[in-house]
Amino acid sequence: MPKRPYIVGNWKMHGTRAMLSEARTIDRAAQRHMKVEVAIAPPYTLIHPVHREAEQIAVGAQDCHHEESGAHTGDISAAMVADAGGKFVILGHSERRQNHSETDAQIKLKAEAALNAGLRIILCCGESDSTREAGRAVSHVKKQLKASLPDFADTAEEISEKLTVAYEPIWAIGTGKTATLEDIAEMHAEIRALLVSLYGEEQGAEVRILYGGSVKPENASEILATAEVGGALVGGASLTADSFMGIALAA
Ligand code: G3P
Repeated sequence: MPKRPYIVGNWKMHGTRAMLSEARTIDRAAQRHMKVEVAIAPPYTLIHPVHREAEQIAVGAQDCHHEESGAHTGDISAAMVADAGGKFVILGHSERRQNHSETDAQIKLKAEAALNAGLRIILCCGESDSTREAGRAVSHVKKQLKASLPDFADTAEEISEKLTVAYEPIWAIGTGKTATLEDIAEMHAEIRALLVSLYGEEQGAEVRILYGGSVKPENASEILATAEVGGALVGGASLTADSFMGIALAA
């Protein structure tokens, strides 16, 4: 059965308790629009407060460490995210890859730790503008994904529940530029083919593939109607309930 469109807000390093009112508004609106699945990844400090407020939306984290606990100053484990009420974690975001030099191998370890802690994962991939200009976008994204996807051997029947992929071309993040619908369709079809080859027709075809990169209420409906786009991972436009739910309503 096709899954509902998945609209996820990545608040990045935005949000203090003053933002809880936006989360409440988003939650109330999501209760009225059950055709979409809505989730928010606020900063770590707001995971538990948002969890306490939310009835309909899921709350998650923007990263986690691959170990359960230990001497890792400033880090947060997947188990801690789950303990705070988190239901999912975004992994491999290009800002983590760039600002914290995260490698595919580290992201794979984090993904496996997240699954062990009972979290769903949203695994990000995407190419830079120079990679796209060099005509290597598809091969780059497929290589990135193959190297960072977790090993699902023991949970084969649940892969499409546990895993979401987010395609976010780096040059489209926070820039106001979006990929063309043709480029989105091409990349999503390639990712779908990869998922089917890895996990089989039944599970591989069901994994949702989100698009991210300057999604706004104005462009959401055409992006969300593009083949193989199962939702959106939204940065800037997720910071107010109005614009975020404008995107959700476009689905
Ligand atoms: O993870 C979401 C993201 O990187 C896209 O950000 O601000 O372009 O919607 P934005």
